[in-house]
Amino acid sequence: MTTGRIIPDAKALADRYAVFGNPVAHSKSPRIHAAFARACGENLRYETRMAPIDGFAAAVRQFILECGGRAKGANVTVPFKEDAFRLADEHTPRARAAGSVNTLIFHANRVEGDNTDGAGLARDITENLAFSLAGKRILLIGAGGAARGIVAPLLALSPAALVIVNRSVDKARALAAAFADHMLAPQGMGFADLAATTPFDLVINATSASLTGAALPLPAGIFAPEKSLAYDLMYGKGETPFLIQARQDGAGQLADGLGMLVEQAAESFFVWRGRRPSADARLALMRQLRAA
Ligand code: ATR
Repeated sequence: MTTGRIIPDAKALADRYAVFGNPVAHSKSPRIHAAFARACGENLRYETRMAPIDGFAAAVRQFILECGGRAKGANVTVPFKEDAFRLADEHTPRARAAGSVNTLIFHANRVEGDNTDGAGLARDITENLAFSLAGKRILLIGAGGAARGIVAPLLALSPAALVIVNRSVDKARALAAAFADHMLAPQGMGFADLAATTPFDLVINATSASLTGAALPLPAGIFAPEKSLAYDLMYGKGETPFLIQARQDGAGQLADGLGMLVEQAAESFFVWRGRRPSADARLALMRQLRAA
């Protein structure tokens, strides 16, 4: 005879999360959040959801409906971060500054949009790489969505200068102008103008050029001779084309976007669960992902 005690099924009771993208099958986010949940003792389920290019909002609504009250949030990746901004009923200040959303929080009657990309980059640079940006010169390459998402968090770290360079010069100038009211106003320019600038301590590649392997038209001498850092928001097997170029141009330290990937996820996890996986757990995960 069985007793009348009902043992709740932890899986059925788990809060639900998903990452929406197209394509999304390659996403490391489910693995990252499963590791964070184990490290923090949180009961959650996290899955990938492929949305049609013109069907992001419908896919999110479908997920919420399917989860019957257990859907608590989502991550959003390429190409839906602007769609996610439009979908959200309200935005955090950092999402508003970025103009895009990578983290959704599903409240009872409203959807909140946040953006943890910039915070993830800042934490990776300042903590994991122990690279202080106060008083430093930063060159940001690119003026698309990825670049826009990190301008405010970089300015918050009190650099001496932030130069935004882009193939389409108008976009670089427009992005710089969007942050002109900050204490340090960024400067926008084209690649041809770079030769006349003072070398930089941090050079960030936020273009999608690495996807095609295209070399960026960077003049020699943009890296400050001592301890300059080249950071590619992209990551992949081996060094990205930008990091190969940066090494040849004399960058002192190279980093790809894997650290930022884990840190933006940790920030999303914190937003959702109120708990941050420990530095040890985050670094161990970075090592595992690197080896995978
Ligand atoms: P994302 O959301 O990844 O930022 P995006 O908004 O399409 O994508 O922006 C892509 C960025 O990469 C832009 O800054 C683009 O420069 P343009 O604005 O001139 O198009 C930049 N980019 C892409 N391919 C490039 C290349 N081969 N050389 C230089 N810049 C490139």
